[in-house]
Amino acid sequence: MIAGDITEIIGVDIGGSGIKGAPVDLAAGAFAADRVRLPTPAKSTPKAVARVVAAVVDKLGHDTGRAGGPGSPIGVTIPAVVRDGVVLTAANIDETWIGTDATARFEQQLGRPVVAINDADAAGLAEMRYGAGRDRGGSVLMLTLGTGIGSALFIDGVLVPNTELGHLPLHHGDAERWAAAAVREQDDLSWKKWARRLQKYLALVQRLLWPDLIILGGGVSRRADKFLPHIDVPTEVVQAQLHNDAGIIGAALAASQKPATDDVQETLL
Ligand code: BGC
Repeated sequence: MIAGDITEIIGVDIGGSGIKGAPVDLAAGAFAADRVRLPTPAKSTPKAVARVVAAVVDKLGHDTGRAGGPGSPIGVTIPAVVRDGVVLTAANIDETWIGTDATARFEQQLGRPVVAINDADAAGLAEMRYGAGRDRGGSVLMLTLGTGIGSALFIDGVLVPNTELGHLPLHHGDAERWAAAAVREQDDLSWKKWARRLQKYLALVQRLLWPDLIILGGGVSRRADKFLPHIDVPTEVVQAQLHNDAGIIGAALAASQKPATDDVQETLL
């Protein structure tokens, strides 16, 4: 539920190379103004990242005039397991994140209520609400193919958080080290060669979960024509519709579930 008539909430997506934010129009499921992007600090400690997140929010206010009120919540994605706002793993971020209360850290830096959520879970929420998973019941698995492989599992539209299927063992290690989209670029693989790796990964996931639908997301999903024709598993596999915007939109969606702080509530009543 969105409090009162607030339909615009800022979402911020922390990625391996960039920290991106935008005000999201939750009625439309789209950005309400242009996205702002700043580079992820080379040493991505909680302190350094929180500063850049605050700079993104400031810049949004400056560039677009749309940073929201001081009490309005902000959603932030993290590429790690996040339970009750606390980060529990660090495969693709600085290991000092482990044990960090991300919600508290961002709230302190931003002076606003924050919801911290795993990046793939956020992307999945957005796809389920506005994209390829819309109106889909049963079990739906969203996979984000980027620096790592993120996963978000939904049962009748309800998220099972922190599934971490990018770490399934495949080819002598974590699957994401061999089949993530970034590996295609790093190892200079042809689309077809990378698609063969993706096929092996999807076959593994499929055998274990038998979902009703698999949605492939991440920036690479824009190029689905290059790899989807090589994928063949006994489950429907579709490309995501929100591509790289899904994380920001899902972060905003998650934040919309957090009540605004008192001063904002008052202005709404
Ligand atoms: C992390 C996940 C994350 C995924 C995509 C993995 O390495 O463990 O939490 O969702 O990368 O960023």
